[in-house]
Amino acid sequence: ARVTLRQLLDHAAEYGYGVPAFNINNMEQALAIMEAAEATNSPVIMQASRGARSYANDIVLKHLIDAMAEMYPDIPICMHQDHGNNEATCATAIQYGFTSVMMDGSLKADGKTPADYDYNVAVTKAVVDMAHWVGASVEGELGVLGSLETGMGEKEDGHGFEGKLGHDQLLTDPDQAVEFVKATEVDALAIAMGTSHGAYKFTRKPDGDVLAMHVIEEIHRRLPNTHLVMHGSSSVPQDLQEIINKYGGEMPQTWGVPVEEIQRGIKHGVRKINIDTDNRMAITGAIRKVFAEKPGEFDPRSYLKPAKEAMRKICIQRFEEFGTAGHA
Ligand code: G3H
Ligand code: 13P
Ligand code: ZN
Repeated sequence: ARVTLRQLLDHAAEYGYGVPAFNINNMEQALAIMEAAEATNSPVIMQASRGARSYANDIVLKHLIDAMAEMYPDIPICMHQDHGNNEATCATAIQYGFTSVMMDGSLKADGKTPADYDYNVAVTKAVVDMAHWVGASVEGELGVLGSLETGMGEKEDGHGFEGKLGHDQLLTDPDQAVEFVKATEVDALAIAMGTSHGAYKFTRKPDGDVLAMHVIEEIHRRLPNTHLVMHGSSSVPQDLQEIINKYGGEMPQTWGVPVEEIQRGIKHGVRKINIDTDNRMAITGAIRKVFAEKPGEFDPRSYLKPAKEAMRKICIQRFEEFGTAGHA
């Protein structure tokens, strides 16, 4: 059944677990998530970025979600717009059956320039009014995602800004978070604490200097009833890096967000955990393996099936690690 983000996260807060939000762009990814959810009896958040919507087409995505809901009637499914850049993106997502939208007003509508606080409040509040009229949920973001190591912020294509950002922009200010939630009435709040999108988050296993979990703890103390969202939360597992490199890939050594840090976040109000990169890596590793071991293959099913299986394994792991399993 289709549910809103608010319904899902209220339940997660009541029972003290987190819900991974997995990005989808195609049928294989949607099936991998649903199969994992069924195997672990977990509720689902699927999210589509603006890029995913233009890649897959809104109409295809709409029917894909309908198909998943029809195939798995007992699994609660929230379909969420990832990183909406303006009111129109959020409104059209809802028209296509999304039950939740992110209005990312931490960046201007171009999706790459840091926005000021007043713009963020105004655009987020406008989306909240619109979405709540029609029963959809809204996630807002305060603070800019980016690396505390390099000061590089992040735009949607994953490349850094021209200039360096300071810690005042890269770490959400707890006082401002209280003000922001009050002013916008968002259902969930994404915060910045040193994570970034993509595989290259940290140059070493992160400690408190580069992954500021204490910011989450402080914000949760001040906003105990607000559902917090962690973006850029792929763990970038070493074994997936090894598989990709073993079969002809070239990924430099890198580190993501350790699962135990996410589990610590879940103890402090984190309810939605965004994961795309881990699944991309699982898919890529599986496809590379088939290509390397069976260079004669040309049936797409011969590599897309193992790709789906590899993603399903990651999803099952995250459902179990975040305590989502058993809560469908
Ligand atoms: O926001 C980041 C997600 O990983 C989606 O990425 O914009 O390349 O689809 P994308
Ligand atoms: P990762 O790149 O760490 O998977 O983060 C995805 C994300 O935050 C989508 O909004
Ligand atoms: Zn994100």
